[in-house]
Amino acid sequence: MKRPFVIGNWKMNLTLVRGIEFAKLLKDSLHGKDGIMCGVCPPFIFLKEICKILEDSNVCVAAQNIHSEKYGAYTGEVSALMIKEVGCTHVLIGHSERRHIFHEDDSFINAKIKTALSVNLKPIFCVGEMLDEREAGRTKDVIRNQLVRGLRDVRADQLKEIVIAYEPVWAIGTGKTALPEQADEVHSFIRNTITNEYDKNLAKSIYILYGGSVKPENAKELTDQSEIDGLLVGGASILFESFLKIIEVVSKG
Ligand code: PGA
Repeated sequence: MKRPFVIGNWKMNLTLVRGIEFAKLLKDSLHGKDGIMCGVCPPFIFLKEICKILEDSNVCVAAQNIHSEKYGAYTGEVSALMIKEVGCTHVLIGHSERRHIFHEDDSFINAKIKTALSVNLKPIFCVGEMLDEREAGRTKDVIRNQLVRGLRDVRADQLKEIVIAYEPVWAIGTGKTALPEQADEVHSFIRNTITNEYDKNLAKSIYILYGGSVKPENAKELTDQSEIDGLLVGGASILFESFLKIIEVVSKG
């Protein structure tokens, strides 16, 4: 039985002062509780401070993005080496806002995943279909393509370090959560795809999180599903009380 993994994506929200306060409260509230794994994804500019606070705690810190190159003339970008240096252990890659607002494609996402792995950062690799794709019955094709293309040339021993997050685009920030059974079905499809591409034991052990309008009210029914190993939370993760509540309900077994 896996410990549930709950990670909060702050996106472009909070201030440094509020972020620091949040991190301190979270560290104190979760002190000594090892029934759960949890983390936060602050904006780049907060990472160093937040990593310092959460060092030696059971809360990990992830960046929201990286560039695929380790360094170079990429004005405005931040590299995997830089976020690793300030203490991040994880990084979100392929979030739907990066795919759709910033037009990141599968090959760029694949390059970022390989770069993250090469510096020992754990990618949280996001996949998910759009509403029209779901309505056209194409959910599985879309997810399979995103997985296969995003993981091209990733070896089995590297895949072990990756967390997958299934986030249906129509459920992100919309208040429309996927039904727990709907999400579970896609999670199970993701596991089968990993079984076909790699092997069954690896597919079983890999963490697959659900994301999309997760709230304290629906967190438990989602993680009660057999294939859902945790949650990637956006809007409800920037209010300390609601994020803590999600962690608590999910960790109550
Ligand atoms: P949401 O965002 O919880 O606000 O829907 C989820 C995400 O984008 O990871």
